[in-house]
Amino acid sequence: MKTQVCIIGGGPSGLMLSQLLHLKGIETVVLERQTRDYVLSRIRAGVLENGFAKLMREAQCGERMDREGEIHDGFFLAHADKLNRVDLHKYSGGNSVMVYGQTELTRDLYEARDRMNGIVIHSAENVQPHDVKSDMPYVTYSVGGEEKRVDCDFIIGADGFHGVSRKSIPSDVIKEYEKVYPFGWLGVLSRTKPVSPELIYAKHPRGFALCSLRSQVLSRYYIQVPLTDSVEDWSDEAFWAELKRRLPAEVSEQLITGPTIEKSIAPLRSFVAEPMRYGNMFLAGDAAHIVPPTGARGLNTAGSDIYYLYHGFVDHYQKGDSTGLDNYSEKALSRVWKAQRFSWWLTTLLHTFPDSIEYDQKLQEVEMAYLFSSDAAQSSLAENYVGLPF
Ligand code: APR
Ligand code: PHB
Repeated sequence: MKTQVCIIGGGPSGLMLSQLLHLKGIETVVLERQTRDYVLSRIRAGVLENGFAKLMREAQCGERMDREGEIHDGFFLAHADKLNRVDLHKYSGGNSVMVYGQTELTRDLYEARDRMNGIVIHSAENVQPHDVKSDMPYVTYSVGGEEKRVDCDFIIGADGFHGVSRKSIPSDVIKEYEKVYPFGWLGVLSRTKPVSPELIYAKHPRGFALCSLRSQVLSRYYIQVPLTDSVEDWSDEAFWAELKRRLPAEVSEQLITGPTIEKSIAPLRSFVAEPMRYGNMFLAGDAAHIVPPTGARGLNTAGSDIYYLYHGFVDHYQKGDSTGLDNYSEKALSRVWKAQRFSWWLTTLLHTFPDSIEYDQKLQEVEMAYLFSSDAAQSSLAENYVGLPF
């Protein structure tokens, strides 16, 4: 098989790029290791910045998002039994975020690829990029034991943190930066009315908690847990009791509990690989960088990678101008690191660190007090949460 851009990974990054390029007449093939059902069973975060929502519309995938997603003009930070509202609209010059689950968004992207007869190959095993330093790179894989090959102009590594693309770059070329936090988030999904119409991020001495939602009948809640905990350690009753303890009384009194339909633990980690290009292979999304979920930056940062690649390929194929592709790594990394900084800041502010000294705890307190006494500090928080410009 021959194509222009061979995309490894059929998560949101790979599918979005494939869809956008298709609409500009650029051919792609997407190779995904898992089945579609498996990809669509993964539950991930659900806050989209406007830039990402716009990209969904440009990809002709925004209809259901605009119908079913919720526009949020603010969120709450809870601390010391009080709720403080961060007015995103006021502090970001009229901006907001869209609350729409990543699972739904991925489904919309798959449906769009189907409508346009896009080639997405599932259950692709042993995917391997080759000759990426040459002008004739190719990707090999197998399906049902049969060896296959895709020849292409460019390869996109959009295969997530555990993918093969980044690992195929020689270690003396790529530099990896990593920070692992000493805790995880236990998340549950429950078919209950969300406790608050807007998200609540709660700082508490027992640990962080988050009240989020997927719709007015589907809630998503998280609590910080030690890395040594497993899902089996947490019955539904224990989860709800701990969540309530960490929320202000006025919130926990309103919390509607019920059976959970999903429960999982995710470790918190920050990671960046530099550069994001090796020869004619480009890394995008989780393949190149991950953030702890606290600032809701993960998917959104993948979105800016896709935006830069999309415009880079359009300029390359339509105008013969490769500046965008040549500048991709530098441009993407500049925004990636700002998202890293913001995610680190919010994670550090809101979590309870097992090894923290009293001085650190005092700093967390004063940071919180400063935030809600300063318009400038709230503007900075709002500007980052709604997403820095591409
Ligand atoms: N060959 C083919 N596909 C692979 C391989 C491989 N060797 N390894 C991984 N994949 C697939 C995974 O199965 C997955 O479907 O690549 C896809 C990568 O998808 P994601 O992990 O969702 O990453 P990405 O598309 O970059 O999505 C952006 O930002 O912070 C996050 O939660 C956010 O997942 C979201 C991400
Ligand atoms: C979620 O709804 O899953 C979610 C929302 C905001 C975050 C993280 C996760 O910061």
